[in-house]
Amino acid sequence: MTTRLAGRRILITGASRGLGAAVAASFAAEGAHLALTATTRDHLAPVIRDIGETGREALALGVDLRDPTAIAAAARETLAGLGGLDVIVVNAGLLGYRGPLLDCPPGVWDDVLAVTVDGTFHLLRALVPEMEDGGAIILVTSGAAGRPDWGAYGVSRAALNAQAAMLRAELEDRDIRVVAVNPGPARTQMRADAYPDEDPQTVPEPAELTGAFLAIAAGGDPGPFVEIPEWRARTESSAS
Ligand SMILES: NC(=O)c1ccc[n+]([C@@H]2O[C@H](COP(=O)([O-])OP(=O)(O)OC[C@H]3O[C@@H](n4cnc5c(N)ncnc54)[C@H](OP(=O)(O)O)[C@@H]3O)[C@@H](O)[C@H]2O)c1
Repeated sequence: MTTRLAGRRILITGASRGLGAAVAASFAAEGAHLALTATTRDHLAPVIRDIGETGREALALGVDLRDPTAIAAAARETLAGLGGLDVIVVNAGLLGYRGPLLDCPPGVWDDVLAVTVDGTFHLLRALVPEMEDGGAIILVTSGAAGRPDWGAYGVSRAALNAQAAMLRAELEDRDIRVVAVNPGPARTQMRADAYPDEDPQTVPEPAELTGAFLAIAAGGDPGPFVEIPEWRARTESSAS
């Protein structure tokens, strides 16, 4: 068993399934102390059980990231439960709708922006002052940022990229590495919703995409922006 994250206290949002669940499993396997979020604790139960079967454990937090009061409570629970915080992975996200911007239903617009833009602001505002210097913040973004026909999702990802770039500069003096990570295609529910005609077997499993997350959480700084397909091509070819 390897222990590259032994003793590291890490929060991962949106860890009930998809990419977040895969990152949680890989971090738990490396000895991290984890707090995981989803909209409800029940959604996290299978992930917590799987981690438990490997002899590790993780804190499960139900928090709707549209709700600033719930976010503040989850932040307090995270800090109390882990006894501090070294790394935050902002992974939770909502596609909501795919299509022209002005056709985006207003309720979807509100939800997508609330989770990704407002939720990230409120979460980091509550946690960053309390986290350790020398840690890392990973913001999971998307190649859809600012692209036509991606509705509120495209706008929310462009805003997330801006949050990442601003925080990277603003937290430099605390040696907190802020990295926006675009996972590229991942075989998840969100991907299936965005590309209903695609054969899922042609898309990488989330578990294949966790290496860059691990490298950053373990202390690496690949720069402000990582594209995982490019990162994998580079690191996996240099390893072979
Ligand atoms: N899959 C891809 O191909 C792809 C490509 C580029 C970027 N990404 C990004 O990667 C991240 C993970 O995506 P995924 O494909 O793994 O998505 P996913 O399978 O749909 O999982 C989304 C996660 O976000 C949580 N979530 C959704 N709405 C929430 C809310 N209101 N409050 C709190 N948590 C909420 C979900 O929790 P519940 O279980 O409680 O609903 C779930 O854990 C997202 O930021 C996505 O934009 C994905």
